[in-house]
Amino acid sequence: MSQLAINGGQPVAPKGLRCKWPVFDVQDRAALLEVLESGHWCSVGWSKTFGSRVAQFEQEFAAWNGNAYAVAVNSGTSALVLALRAVGIKAGDEVIVPAVTFVASASAIVLANAVPIFVDIDPETYQIDPDAVEAAITDRTRAIMVVHYGGYPADMDRILAIAKRHKLKVVEDCAEGHGSEWRGTKIGALGDAGAFSFQMGKPLTCGEGGIVTMNDVRVRDACFSYANMGRSRDGAKYVHYVPAHNFRLSEFLGKLLSVQLTRLDDQIAVRHANGEYLAAELAKIDGVSALKRDPRITKRSYYFYFLRYDAAAWNGIPRDAFRRALGAEGIGLGTAHNQPLYLNPAFTDTGTWADTYGIEYPDYSKVTCPESERVYRNEICALTKDFLMHRENGDLILAAIRKLRANIGEIPVA
Ligand SMILES: Cc1ncc(COP(=O)(O)O)c(C=O)c1O
Repeated sequence: MSQLAINGGQPVAPKGLRCKWPVFDVQDRAALLEVLESGHWCSVGWSKTFGSRVAQFEQEFAAWNGNAYAVAVNSGTSALVLALRAVGIKAGDEVIVPAVTFVASASAIVLANAVPIFVDIDPETYQIDPDAVEAAITDRTRAIMVVHYGGYPADMDRILAIAKRHKLKVVEDCAEGHGSEWRGTKIGALGDAGAFSFQMGKPLTCGEGGIVTMNDVRVRDACFSYANMGRSRDGAKYVHYVPAHNFRLSEFLGKLLSVQLTRLDDQIAVRHANGEYLAAELAKIDGVSALKRDPRITKRSYYFYFLRYDAAAWNGIPRDAFRRALGAEGIGLGTAHNQPLYLNPAFTDTGTWADTYGIEYPDYSKVTCPESERVYRNEICALTKDFLMHRENGDLILAAIRKLRANIGEIPVA
């Protein structure tokens, strides 16, 4: 037994975990310089014959993801707003969304002039609970926003069946899971539209950006128009059919994404293999486990790697005392987004913004999702994906957890 680092012992990982993100090389430099020198920095005004670099990337991403079309935009949040509007969500429509996600999933619903309805998660997967979805459906429900939280695919068999039965649209928030697969199909190719983020921490990045994926050409054309000042895809530059945003992505970022995309399959394969390894090894240690392993999930890309902490198996030591002790060993664990979304001031006090939209919202201060609250309070431990690029990081994590277990009586609780 060695002394715990939190009590003055030698840390398991004195330099922390090896993580480098984003990844780039001479190809990325050359791509950015090429756009710089071309003088074409914006996607508007390109000849229809040759298309822009953004249009080129849209084709590449759609093909990679198994979609017919994709529309690139300036953020994942913009992608979600567009996706909702393009599938036909209208003012006052209810959209069901999990309570466990990043704020953008729900704020996009508000920004699309609709009403977020929060539902609980399945504690085995941390994903939207299909039973809770079904229970939340009213005659105003028009869509389900599935979030593949942390890159773990939600139960799309049940979600798609419920949507079909109740004639609801399915928008997939894929911001955290580029390349994750459900029964061999990539997320974002399962529902009516998918929305991805390319913000810097995401599995595919250009710093800030996003994309909407779809198979219906009408959804593609609506996304294009809402992201491009209400223009039509084939129309004249100064003919505008709807008042709309400028959500466009710059040519620099379109070109950079094309280069970054060439590395993505290899990166996902490494993360997937290392994630499987870690899950198998964690299964041998009491008191911590990976999320449920579901054979229908054929690939996991990861944004977060979640550990489920079971305080009862650690003599009641609270999760945050475990995190502190592990942090001292050089393994920093977060708690992802810290609390269910509806506990944020944006929802506990809608008085500051609700008038803008002129529709009625539920009293979110009365919402309770017991599993979401319990998981954030006592259970969830999250690592961001970058550590999964190196097998030795997994070994360090396992060694540190084993050390804590061997010294369980020495973990300071306060
Ligand atoms: C689940 C989820 N949805 C949406 C977004 C929004 O993406 P962006 O930050 O690119 O607007 C994020 C990004 O952080 C996210 O994690």
